[in-house]
Order: sequence, then C-alpha cells, then structure tokens
Amino acid sequence: MNRRKLIYLIFITIFIASCGFSLYFFIQSQRMEDKIEKETSPEQSLPAYQFALIGEELDHDYWRLVGQGAKDVEQNYDVSVAYEGPRRSNPDEQLKLLDIAIKSKVDGIIVQALNEDFLPVINQAMENGIPVITIDTDAPNSDRLAYVGTDNYEAGKLAGETLVKDLDSNATVGIVTGSFDNAHHQLRVEGFKEAIAQALGVKVVAIEESNITRVVAEEKAYNMLKEHPDIDALYGTSALDGIGMVEAATSLGVEESIYMLAFDTLPENIELLKQGKIDVLIGQKPYEMGSRSVELMMKLMEGEAIDDVYHTDTSVVRPEDAGELDD
Ligand code: BGC
Repeated sequence: MNRRKLIYLIFITIFIASCGFSLYFFIQSQRMEDKIEKETSPEQSLPAYQFALIGEELDHDYWRLVGQGAKDVEQNYDVSVAYEGPRRSNPDEQLKLLDIAIKSKVDGIIVQALNEDFLPVINQAMENGIPVITIDTDAPNSDRLAYVGTDNYEAGKLAGETLVKDLDSNATVGIVTGSFDNAHHQLRVEGFKEAIAQALGVKVVAIEESNITRVVAEEKAYNMLKEHPDIDALYGTSALDGIGMVEAATSLGVEESIYMLAFDTLPENIELLKQGKIDVLIGQKPYEMGSRSVELMMKLMEGEAIDDVYHTDTSVVRPEDAGELDD
C-alpha cells in the first residue's frame, strides 16, 4: 500500500470512529434528557395529596414530636405533609398559616385549634371542600371532621386527682398555665379544679400565664412564690412550665419543699423528674397525634368514614417510670 492510500485509510477510519462516537454520545444524552424529564415532570414528582399540619410553635420540642409522627407515616402513603407553625407562639400568625393553606387549596388541613378565632376559618376550609382535623386542641363547635389528641379536661382532672392523693388532700396551690385564652389550657385548669373541689384542704391561691415559654413561666412562678410564701404545690399546664417552675423555686431556695406537677414527658422534664425536682408529669402522646392524624386524613381521602374524636392516652409519670417511656 502506498503512502497516499495509507493516509486515506487512516482518515476514513478516524472519520468512521468519530461518527460512531458522536452517535453513541447523542443517544446517551437523549436517554439522560428523557430520564431527567421523567424525574422532574410534575405528574411524576408531586404526590397525590398535599396536607398542611399547623401547630402552635415550629421550634418546640413538643411540636417537633408531632411533626415527626406525621413525617414518619407520610412515607407509607402517596402524600406530602407540610409541617408548619409560627416561630414563636402567635395565634394570629397561626391563623394566617391556616388561611394560606386554604388559599393554596391543599387536600387536607390538620390544625391545633387554639381558641374561638379558629372556628370561622376552620369552617371556611370545610366550605371550600378541604377536610379539617383538629389536633392537640379541639374546636368541637366547628365543622371539623375529627379531633386527634388528649382529652384536655380529663387530663386536668387526672392532674388534680394525683395532687390530692399525693398530698393527702392538703395543699396551697399556684398554677402556671400556657395561656388564659387557649381552649386546652382552660380545660386543663377546669378539670384540675373539679378534681380538687371535694378536697377542702386544697386551695388555689394564684394563677398566671406563661405564654408557653420557660422564661415567662419562671418569672410568673417566681413572683407567685414571693407573693404567696404559703404555696407548697405548683401545677404547670404546658410543656415548658415545669422547667420554669423548678428554676423559680431553685432561685428562691424552696425547691425541696414544693410539690411540682407538670405536663409533658419531654427530655428536659424527664431529667428534672429523675433528679426529683419535678414530682409528677402528666404524659401526652404528641408523636401519635401527628401520625394518627395523617392516617385518618388519608382514610378521608380514600372515602372511608372515621370517628369524630380520637383521644390519645394520658398518663401519670413518676420518677420510677422515667426509664420506660416510649415517645
Ligand atoms: C400542649 C401544646 C403546647 C405545648 C407548649 C403542650 O402541653 O399540649 O398545645 O403547644 O404544651 O409548651
């Protein structure tokens, strides 16, 4: 083969090889594009249902458990649950989030119904065809389809009965409550008062609100203990009140002599219980509230009937029970 033919042959081989490579890469890139398109096309990526779960405070250990419960069951269904809430407890902002969920036409709303102001907005969601389940705090007079959470009146009664039993029907009580305006805290106080009504040696001498923060709980408990040195029992109705009550009593040096009864088995409360600084906790099931409410909402999506009230358990938790808690 002469030199010229050899050069032609080399060129032709290079030409054929580069056409082959180009064709190969063209086919590969088409396949890749198809794959990306499939993965990002709205029909493929959006779950069948979108729910909004709106609680009292986003960055709060109690509500994080509610959100976790919802997220964990979300994986079992074709649903996406947006866990929302104000950064700090703020009923107006919570109502705005509810309004936004209605305007966004979500498929279902799970909401803590803090007070009477939530009723018309819940009803509006229902009128717009969006099913509503209340969680943690109920609005029984609204059109909501179901409630998932503690029976707050009974939980308050359980707290009162426990105090009466532990203190032999003899106590001077100060109450720190999350809010005077919120339905569940009102019920926890009313139930408590009913339980102590027959125990004539038990009287409530002060009640203050903490706005569900430990700092305000501490400040209010501190002032209460200063004004009423005869207080020998404190009852806190929201999750961080117990911590504030302990801090107040400790800074006044009276923590040993005060019986502390508080709500919720959050890790910090359990620690105080183990240290003997809190005597009793009333345990709720926030994780189950989150998971159960999503499961029930999915039943509604599938056209199934559900009960209108699902009460999660409450329990009396003492230091000796602290090791055996689930969520
Ligand atoms: C209540 C919640 C509240 C939380 C605040 C819990 O006991 O059930 O509604 O948001 O306390 O600390």
